[in-house]
Amino acid sequence: MAVVRGRTQVGIVGAGPAGLLLSHLLALSGIDSLVIENRTRAYCEARQRAGLLEAGTVELLRSVGLGERLDAEGMEHGGIYLQFAGERHHLDFRELTGGRWVTIYAQTEIVKDLFAARLAAGGAIEFSVSGVSMSGLTTDTPVLSYLSETGQRHEITCDVIAGCDGFHGISRPLIPDLSVWERAYPYAWLGILAEVPPSTDELIYSRHEEGFALHTMRTPHISRLYLQVPPDTPIESWPDDRIWAELQHRLALPGWTLKEGPILEKAVTPMRSFVAAPMRYGRLFLAGDAAHIVPPTGAKGLNLALSDVVVLATAFGELLNRGSPALADAYSGTCLARVWRATHFSWWMTSMLHVAPDQDTFESQLQLSQLRYVTSSRAAATTLAENYSGYHPVRYNPPPP
Ligand code: APR
Ligand code: PHB
Repeated sequence: MAVVRGRTQVGIVGAGPAGLLLSHLLALSGIDSLVIENRTRAYCEARQRAGLLEAGTVELLRSVGLGERLDAEGMEHGGIYLQFAGERHHLDFRELTGGRWVTIYAQTEIVKDLFAARLAAGGAIEFSVSGVSMSGLTTDTPVLSYLSETGQRHEITCDVIAGCDGFHGISRPLIPDLSVWERAYPYAWLGILAEVPPSTDELIYSRHEEGFALHTMRTPHISRLYLQVPPDTPIESWPDDRIWAELQHRLALPGWTLKEGPILEKAVTPMRSFVAAPMRYGRLFLAGDAAHIVPPTGAKGLNLALSDVVVLATAFGELLNRGSPALADAYSGTCLARVWRATHFSWWMTSMLHVAPDQDTFESQLQLSQLRYVTSSRAAATTLAENYSGYHPVRYNPPPP
């Protein structure tokens, strides 16, 4: 079969939230892009992931025309509960931070909204591609190559390429001399989606001697709950009854009831911190999970991915519409400042709330002391609230086309 050759300004690998929002923002600046994705649209829309948006992320999505369903269906929360040693404490973010809040709106819904917006605007997305590769990354005309669903080889000449292909993607390994910082945690999260109204108005983060548990939600009728489990736990070892019994145990509080319902989905997710730098090599730029991973305890992964692409879209606008490379040159450093803050916060929340398998009582006492401090000192509570609700919010001011 002959090779199909084409041209686009920005080649985007990966149709997760990062790649899709990038193509949406670029279109607002009159820049054309092609998104290639190795899965189907249905798969991308069904993949269960995070669900908590910082206030700044909500404001960003609204400001670029993606707020309609988010405003109708998103659940605004003004704080969280921290539970430990048989006590449950409320942290009021609005009061602590002068009005900041967070919104529960699932990543799956953002991905659906983005697909709908891109496809309605005639945006180019190729699903079910394979054999993706790149060449000429240190030239002004890098080439993105892939096999379409039918097996046809395509070679697309671009001005720049965005690697938005997640942690297991092909982009990051193409950057020579990459520095990597990594931390594996000796536990994983077992997450369930259950058909039962949430038993709480706001999220409950519970540190328990048996391990961490989190009660979050998706809608007024669907709850999401997580349990700390050993890494590599086979999901078969957790029948539904066992999951509910353990959630009841770790979330229990006198006078409060955890409602149970049918479990719709369950899966075990590993926990790691990972940062790679620089997030750029020549004309290849990494964004989102392709460059960094945080453990989910701080609810930062999705917010970081979307923040990266705001910075990247602005930098591409300057580079491609005005010929100015300054923002592109600053891209990696600009993102990494936010990434490291979120990496510290996520590591700190994780370390404070989980019980490691080899943990001694000294460490347990330190955790409890820290939790008492965070729930009794206004200064400590404000630190948590400020980081959780979004310390470095980004704004998108599209450069005129
Ligand atoms: N070619 C094309 N697409 C690829 C390739 C490849 N070689 N490898 C991976 N992909 C696709 C994946 O199928 C996925 O759809 O890239 C996309 C990456 O999307 P995400 O993993 O969702 O990453 P990102 O867009 O950065 O979003 C980060 O996802 O993991 C969560 O907590 C994280 O919420 C955060 C968000
Ligand atoms: C979720 O709703 O899935 C969620 C919320 C907060 C977290 C992690 C996950 O810290």
